Amino acid sequence: METLIEKLKRQSVLTRDEYVSLIRNRTPELAELLYESAREIKRRYYGNDVFIRGLIEFTSFCKNDCYYCGLRCSNRNAERYRLTKEDILLCCRNGYELGFRTFVLQGGEDPYFNADRLVDIIRSIKKEYPDCALTLSVGEKSYEEYKAYFDAGADRYLLRHETADNEHYRMLHPKELSPENRKRCLYDLKRIGYQVGCGFMVGSPWQTEENLADDLLFIKELQPQMVGIGPFIPQHDTPFRDKKAGTLELTLFMLGLLRLTLPTALIPATTALGTIHPLGREKGIQAGANVVMPNLSPVSVRKKYLLYDNKICTGDEAAECKNCLAMRMKSIGCNVVVSRGDCYNFTNDKKEEELT
Ligand code: 5AD
Ligand code: FES
Repeated sequence: METLIEKLKRQSVLTRDEYVSLIRNRTPELAELLYESAREIKRRYYGNDVFIRGLIEFTSFCKNDCYYCGLRCSNRNAERYRLTKEDILLCCRNGYELGFRTFVLQGGEDPYFNADRLVDIIRSIKKEYPDCALTLSVGEKSYEEYKAYFDAGADRYLLRHETADNEHYRMLHPKELSPENRKRCLYDLKRIGYQVGCGFMVGSPWQTEENLADDLLFIKELQPQMVGIGPFIPQHDTPFRDKKAGTLELTLFMLGLLRLTLPTALIPATTALGTIHPLGREKGIQAGANVVMPNLSPVSVRKKYLLYDNKICTGDEAAECKNCLAMRMKSIGCNVVVSRGDCYNFTNDKKEEELT
């Protein structure tokens, strides 16, 4: 097993069987070895820097009905809200003053925010903050819509693939959502020229070690600039309310494998990881992650954006979250940097104009 970790460290990829055997035969000792390698590789590109992104959860309306998510449209108990354009710009102002240079606009798939409205918001943010990176995370759209957002100034796009296995994907989603369209979206985003983030939940219902190996191989093929992974956590108003949560231990192991598979990727230690363990985010950074995403949403709406149960940081001001995270990162010898933090090896070489 140790030699497999060395091989992965050297070659940045393993076969499916090799990934499966590492995951299946992992031990605490092996995990420690993996994290040491992951930290070494991360340090090579990013030193002890941890990048910070301001997350603005701007709508809790969603037309989709994913079985795992608390914002699914069938959840009558979810409180729904929409921020206005002015609210969103105020979040950015607040964030800018706190030092944030990346804003992440995340929301459910809310038809109210059609292309015209989103383009208007993107233009306004980029006009006021031309030195900031703008990341969108608003789900599956057509090629034309993605292109319109990009042309309006959006730089990055987060869309987790959730699971690379088509059959597993269909077990987590209603039939209206297809794994083929999900992947089509990710490749469209890359082709347009976005810095792209994909990702998956660890420990989602029915997930196998083979599924996790396929996730790593899919990511290796897609070559995203960012990868977000976190444990699945049941939400009490969803069909998966009684399913087991993903573990801290397996999530950390997957973070380590991810770092060695994609050495220069920007990998967040997610809020979900901080939710299943008080030191989850610190441990995530020590296993290979290098991004944290404190909440910039207005405190009044934070308790309404509940993808899963017991979500942390729903009562704190943005300033408190930022200070808290800066302290937490310092406690493990890392320093939070406020720059845009573009992916080390991001080049626009996949941009369409140059392809055609
Ligand atoms: N537990 C953990 N993560 C979840 N997400 C949605 N619901 C849950 C849950 N119950 C993740 C999905 C989605 C991202 C925004 O949040 O991976 O892509
Ligand atoms: Fe939000 Fe600590 S990061 S309170």
